[in-house]
Order: sequence, then structure tokens, then C-alpha cells
Amino acid sequence: MTKRIGILTSGGDCAGLNAAIRAVALRARHGYGWTTVGIRYGTLGLLERPVEAEVLDVDRMDAALARQGGTFLGTTNRGDPFAFPMPDGSRKDRSGEMVEGLLLLGIEGLIGVGGDGSLDILRRLVAPSGMPFVGIPKTIDNDVANTERAVGYPTAVAVATEALDRLHPTGASHERVMVLEVMGRDAGHIAIAAGIAGGADVVLIPEVHWHFERVVAHIASLRATGRSSALVVVAEAAGQSDKASDAASDAPKQGVGDWLARRLSQATGAEARATVLGHVQRGATPTAEDRLLAAALGVRAVDLLAEGKSDRMVAWWNRQVIDVPLAKVVGRSRTVDRDGTLIRTARALGICLGDAG
Ligand code: F6P
Repeated sequence: MTKRIGILTSGGDCAGLNAAIRAVALRARHGYGWTTVGIRYGTLGLLERPVEAEVLDVDRMDAALARQGGTFLGTTNRGDPFAFPMPDGSRKDRSGEMVEGLLLLGIEGLIGVGGDGSLDILRRLVAPSGMPFVGIPKTIDNDVANTERAVGYPTAVAVATEALDRLHPTGASHERVMVLEVMGRDAGHIAIAAGIAGGADVVLIPEVHWHFERVVAHIASLRATGRSSALVVVAEAAGQSDKASDAASDAPKQGVGDWLARRLSQATGAEARATVLGHVQRGATPTAEDRLLAAALGVRAVDLLAEGKSDRMVAWWNRQVIDVPLAKVVGRSRTVDRDGTLIRTARALGICLGDAG
């Protein structure tokens, strides 16, 4: 009998997931003669009887799939198996039902595509069954430890950069301060990368202790040089009060873009407008880099199962795919390195980070 492996996508969707699923199915079939079963809606599919899953026919895994955003299997970022939300508001451990679902599929290995939270859950879910498990990192936030890139991040940066390119003409034409709020959860990776690529004047991220007055002063200095517009990128978590300071200490945990535009308007007298990019960053056609990353990680994930390895994550490191123990990934969110290349580059280009540096 042909060996069967399972794959599921878990957590928020992003660009490149379909490319990863495709790579896994193709590698499994053509490399090892295996069948791949796609589990629907992340772990939620495992609760259904029959289990919500389908055999991935390799004839359907053509290049068109790699071009599509989202995940055709569906996903969820709700429904912790160990504390599953029940209709009456209570929480229930449903991990046993999910493991049973995995066993009912007759699979002998599982590949999970997820961020560090999802990979942690999947790892703990599968462990009692002894089923080999390999993770593929994905998240627009790029905060998974021990990988330089997670699937979805390159596309999110490209979308945010394009948003800045599109905001710039309005800022220049109307002499406005254009504030762009980007996602990233607790990390500023998207903000700093898109800010540099998109020519921002100010980038505010949770990793840098920023001062509202310095942002105001920077915008004033731009005006003194004759420039009447400005581009400001703010990470969604930049308003966390322990990271911001002074007048920024009342920055809200949510809605920091609108708050900042309002405050900048009052403080500088300039017209300021906020754009909250939101899920636009997740749903785009994957960039070439994302497709490549997803393909390389997907292929290697299958190879690891073939080598009998388990409880590992494939990772992108120093221009190649490596694999690392999941124990060294979960619970260690990777934030922007305050002394790293991106921060140094931003400063060198004259981008204001709202601090003294
Ligand atoms: O983790 C990905 C992400 O898009 C974050 O950047 C964002 O904070 C969050 O998910 C949004 O989640 P939801 O889609 O549930 O609103």
C-alpha cells in the first residue's frame, strides 16, 4: 500500500500557502510515490466525521495553484484543541478527537503549515500518537524563531511597499502627512522592511522606544527643507504603551494609525490621513520570493519525513533550507533586531524611528 501523509494549514491565511501545499504533494508523489491527504480548515477538519479531508490529486497541483493567494484547504486561527471554544462559552479539551481524526485518515506523517503558535499546538497534539510531524513556517508577521523568512512575509512586504508607492502621490499633491498602519502582530518586520523599500520618512515599530515629539520634530525638519508631505509607517503594535513614551504613552493598542494621524494633525498643523492596510497584506498573489520559499520548504518538509525525522521545522537560513528542532522555535517570537541591518539601514537613509538614535 502507498504511504499516506497529511498536510494542513493553520492560523491566519497568507500568500504562498497553496504553493507550499503543491510542493508537498508533488514531492511526496514524484519523490517517494506517496499519497498526500489535505485536511480542511486546519485542525477543525479533524473534528468532523468523516474527517474533512481530500486526497490531493497531483494532476490538480499545477502551477496555477502556486499563483493563488490564501489556502484552498481552508484554515482557522480559532479553536485551540486543548481549550476548544464551545457554543455555551466554556472551553473543552478536544485534542483526543482530533488525534482520532488523524488516525482515521490512515496517515503516517503530518506536515503543518503555521506560525509558531500553530506549530506549537500541532506538535503537542500529534506527540501522544507518535506520528512524525514536520512544520513549515508561515506568517506575514515573520516572527517565527530560527528562520529568516516565513511564507507570506515577502508578499506582505511587497503589498505594504506598493501601498506607500500609491500613498506618496496623494501626500505630495495635497501636502499631507500620510500614515500607513501595517500588520505584524507584536513585531515590526513588515513596517521596517516596507518603510525602507517604500521610502518612508518615519517608521514606528514596537521594538524601538519611540517618542511622539521626535516624530513631530522630524516632520517639522522636513518642512524646513521645503518638503510639505511625509510618509509615516506604523506597525499595528507600535502603540503598546510600554514601548511608546511621552505623548505617545496614550497610544492605543488598536487603531494606532488613526490615533497617530489625528495627533500629528494637531501637533504639526498638517493635514494627516491614515490608511489601515489590514488583510490586504495577506491575500495577494504571492510574489516570486514567496512561491520560491514555499516550494523549497515544502519539498524539504517531505524529505524530512522520508528521512524518518520528526518534531522539526524546515527553515530558510543563509540562502538555503535547513531544519531545526521545533523545541527551539515555539515560544520564542523573533522580533526586529534593534542593532540589525534593517534598523541600521533605515537610520542611514535618514528615516526617523522616533528615538534618539
Ligand atoms: O498573524 C497574522 C495577522 O495578520 C497579524 O498580523 C494580525 O495582527 C492578525 O493576524 C489579524 O488576525 P485576524 O485575521 O484574526 O483579524
